[in-house]
Amino acid sequence: MKERIEKITEELKTLQCKTEKEVEEARVRLLGKKGEITALFDEFRTIAPELKREFGQKLNVLKKDALAKIEELKASASSGPAAGGASDDVTMPGEPHQLGSRHPVSIAREQIVNIFRKFGYDVAEGPEIEDDYHVFEALNFPPNHPARDMQDTFFVSNGHLNPLLLRTHTSSVQVRTMEKNQLPIRVICPGRVFRNEAISARAHCIFHQVEGLYIDENVTFADLKQAILLFAREMFGPDTQIRMRPSYFPFTEPSAEVDVSCNICHGKGCNICKGTGWLEILGCGMVDPNVLEASGIDSKKYNGFAFGMGVERIAMLKWQVNDLRHYFENDMRFLREFSTCVDV
Ligand code: DAH
Repeated sequence: MKERIEKITEELKTLQCKTEKEVEEARVRLLGKKGEITALFDEFRTIAPELKREFGQKLNVLKKDALAKIEELKASASSGPAAGGASDDVTMPGEPHQLGSRHPVSIAREQIVNIFRKFGYDVAEGPEIEDDYHVFEALNFPPNHPARDMQDTFFVSNGHLNPLLLRTHTSSVQVRTMEKNQLPIRVICPGRVFRNEAISARAHCIFHQVEGLYIDENVTFADLKQAILLFAREMFGPDTQIRMRPSYFPFTEPSAEVDVSCNICHGKGCNICKGTGWLEILGCGMVDPNVLEASGIDSKKYNGFAFGMGVERIAMLKWQVNDLRHYFENDMRFLREFSTCVDV
């Protein structure tokens, strides 16, 4: 018995297995019902009582070692390609790293900005945490004016004359630009905005806007219309038509909302344009003289136009995405659809 215990102990030291199957075979051979170690335990019952202490200890150590060895072999056999011996084949192709790509909202924002850059606009930015003055007051929203309810605001600090808040639109960057830049001004202001809205297919509490502002002498509504038409044709294709509908914004007078001809049915009427042939893309107007004066610009000498659009909305129309939430959920299948998009 002693010799057999020593033999198995030696054997354990050099035992090697490449596959999980081989490990299982070794386990059965040593510790299975008819295994060599199991047989020794059976025999142990019949040996002389005075030998029991010595061999009992030896057998227990042997069983413990065998179990540990099997566990060790199992771990190395199942880890990595070594299991199938495939690691030996250095010519096997590797696992490629997946390349990331730009997010569709970034692509759309960059396309919008690049179009206006071509027209000679500069890019301006402002803070996302703003004060009431730059988001409302200086844009001709008097305190307690109902127009403030057009945008549900997230307040950062309250009960203050000029509370801090998360900007609800990028029009605040207009004000900051007029305060510090020399005239004439021609800027485009891309940025993130926040509104306390329930999330749905058409609304989100965080989204992106691009604001435009042009201030000079003798700027006319026709200049505004031309700028928007050129933009729409660059963005949605050379056959695109626009139409302007009268609207209201506190910071522009007159104000308008702009629609583009539906780029899917080309004006015939489909379910994307709800049968109208038109899709709304932005708000705009001639800057209200009160807004110019609030930022220290002589409204008798200067005038201008402004416009603002939602980047997600433009991206939805351009790529026919019917649910805004796709832009925020980071589903790889959706994002990969845009991996080959290039800038205009
Ligand atoms: N700030 C407006 C909004 O968030 C969009 C807008 C409309 C901007 C008209 C403008 C404008 O500059 O003239 O809904």
